Amino acid sequence: MGMMKSLMGWVDARFPATKMWKEHLSEYYAPKNFNFWYFFGSLALLVLVIQIVSGIFLAMFFKPDATLAFASVEYIMRDVEWGWLIRYMHSTGASAFFIVVYLHMFRGLLYGSYKNPRELIWIFGVLIYLVLMGEAFMGYLLPWGQMSFWGAQVIISLASAIPYIGDDLSLWIRGDFVIGDATLNRFFSLHVVALPLVLLGLVVAHILALHEVGSNNPDGVEIKKNKDENGIPVDGIPFHPYYSVKDIAGVVAFLFIFCSVIFFAPEMGGYFLEHANFEPANPLKTPEHIAPVWYFTVYYSILRAVPDKFLGVVAMGIAVLLLFFLPWLDRNPVKSIRYRGIQFKVMLGVFIIAFLMLGWLGTQPVTPLYTWMARIGAVIYFTFFLAMPIYTKMEKNLDVPDRVTMK
Ligand code: HEM
Repeated sequence: MGMMKSLMGWVDARFPATKMWKEHLSEYYAPKNFNFWYFFGSLALLVLVIQIVSGIFLAMFFKPDATLAFASVEYIMRDVEWGWLIRYMHSTGASAFFIVVYLHMFRGLLYGSYKNPRELIWIFGVLIYLVLMGEAFMGYLLPWGQMSFWGAQVIISLASAIPYIGDDLSLWIRGDFVIGDATLNRFFSLHVVALPLVLLGLVVAHILALHEVGSNNPDGVEIKKNKDENGIPVDGIPFHPYYSVKDIAGVVAFLFIFCSVIFFAPEMGGYFLEHANFEPANPLKTPEHIAPVWYFTVYYSILRAVPDKFLGVVAMGIAVLLLFFLPWLDRNPVKSIRYRGIQFKVMLGVFIIAFLMLGWLGTQPVTPLYTWMARIGAVIYFTFFLAMPIYTKMEKNLDVPDRVTMK
């Protein structure tokens, strides 16, 4: 013990190890009323680690070459020891990442976690979400299956819908006149090096911003406003050991589900790994029905709901960018949905239904009925955000308690 202590003393004189441990764990005071919805931040961290570690092992065997990529994935699945497990961890991890992040974002909507003083935590979050979409899109090209190729074809061709610069832009993205070896090589480089670095940096910024202002909670009460004589929030408990232990319970539950998918349904009926992607890319054969992976389908539906291609791209872009403005669109100072008026509750409920409907429609082939449903869904999506300054001002709030509640 004595030796350990003097070793830590030696380190602490040179590096803020104990200081950081205290600041971010043992003396970081989190509200004591965290509920189910607060599991997803630590789970997002877990999935990030799973993706990086499984990705490192995949990169040891994968060949980023248009003539070899597909076969190298088959080799990983059939011949590399435990290769199937590594690959399914990574492909299931991609979907798990979006499930966890969508639930994490929904928590932000429920409890107004994007509001003053947490706007920057939210903005770093939206940036993470954007990078995550880029990461998933580029990763999907790598196995060089039919859906890899044609999905990328559809998305990159969106760039060519932009007036004047469109064609040059899509040529620049592809690195060739068609999606080919050059495209695969640069997507590989971006997917395994550039975007993960950006993602890690953003996650650090996200958590630093969180620890600067402190966590929100299901009551939306600022615990820092009520401190004891030692300057510790009366409704706060040290993150470690209380929430480190609680988060482990979430991790166990998550891993139980995650492993069940990996071992029993890694394709998830074509939602996590699309059937067409078990065929090698063939530029001469367009698949009958091109659909992105489920986590993109909300925006894909919005794109298809607009008859003009360029305007569709604009609508899709705005749909994502609106997220950045949420802290300023919501004019109600009350954070938690528990104490907000009926307007936000109804709008959020309708928005979630429209969001799920758009997501489902994006996986389906177009029919006139579905196109109209997508249009209605898109109108609801935009109304939720654009009318927010109006309906959030009209809300009649309930009394917000002074202290957090433990229901
Ligand atoms: C790789 C992805 C992400 C990771 C690893 C991550 C990590 C975390 C962690 C560990 C927390 C604290 C624990 C918790 O409150 O659950 C947190 C809080 C938060 N995150 Fe994220 N996050 C990610 C993505 C996002 C996204 C996409 C958004 C929103 C667009 C977001 C918005 C927030 C907000 C607003 C909080 C504060 C919540 C509160 O105090 O009530 N995060 N995040």
